[in-house]
Amino acid sequence: MTRTYLVTGAASGIGRATADLLRARGHAVIGADMADGDITADLSTADGRTELAARARELTGGRLDAVVACAGVAHFDPVTIGVNHFGAVATLEGLRPLLAAGTDPRALVVGSVDSVHPTDPAIVDAALAGDEEAAVTASRAAVDRGEGHLVYSSSKAAVSRWIRRAAVTGDWAGAGIPLNAVAPGVVVTPMTRPMLDDPGMRELVERSVPMPLHGHARPERIAPLIAWLTSPENTHVTGQVVFADGGAEAVLRGDRTW
Ligand SMILES: NC(=O)c1ccc[n+]([C@@H]2O[C@H](COP(=O)([O-])OP(=O)(O)OC[C@H]3O[C@@H](n4cnc5c(N)ncnc54)[C@H](O)[C@@H]3O)[C@@H](O)[C@H]2O)c1
Repeated sequence: MTRTYLVTGAASGIGRATADLLRARGHAVIGADMADGDITADLSTADGRTELAARARELTGGRLDAVVACAGVAHFDPVTIGVNHFGAVATLEGLRPLLAAGTDPRALVVGSVDSVHPTDPAIVDAALAGDEEAAVTASRAAVDRGEGHLVYSSSKAAVSRWIRRAAVTGDWAGAGIPLNAVAPGVVVTPMTRPMLDDPGMRELVERSVPMPLHGHARPERIAPLIAWLTSPENTHVTGQVVFADGGAEAVLRGDRTW
């Protein structure tokens, strides 16, 4: 059965690999991105988020079968909480009415194994409270004190916790919409290529994200999991952060979680 998907961050990396796989399987994919897509929208801004929902409604006639919120950045900058948490939540919430009119609707956000690394509670708490101004202020403070790396881990922890809270509510589970996250380890994309090409940075990455199974992934290895979680076959997986990380989360957290 042909389905209509909307994928953000579809111009590059994991989003592009996901859009390519879905199209190869015969589905219609609306790609959204900053500059290159069926929908051009900057998801770090309120206007961009409004534009995404409005254009999606125009292009689909108000019916979508699945949404993949993949757009993200890893800058040591407040924009990272803006895109990775608030942009993703706005994507999912803004398109939820279109999903409610779709067939076997599904939603997914791309998180990260980085969500299990240390985070900044001030950023995470503000994000989960829906207070973007406070989250940006806390992110700027982290950058100013030399802990800019915490903005990324905090953004991914916040959005992962948000999906767990939202997935079981009437808006999502009650409307028959599974809502999950896929949390990759290190994937070789334009986001990570500069780090992986630098020997010192690469060693740091390998120490902080150990991947005993198959090592660093190509984006094409993550796309099938996203495709399954957003397919009609997934009827009962919801509120889950599914790690696709070559074992990194199991190494880092051991049996403290299960
Ligand atoms: N590459 C990795 O190792 C890795 C690991 C874990 C999670 N992730 C996550 O996977 C997702 C995709 O990352 P990737 O590695 O494919 O990176 P990428 O840089 O190849 O692709 C990210 C895409 O998001 C788009 N984007 C960025 N900011 C945007 C904005 N403000 N509005 C709209 N679109 C915007 C970019 O233009 C780009 O096309 C991100 O959420 C990232 O955090 C990546």
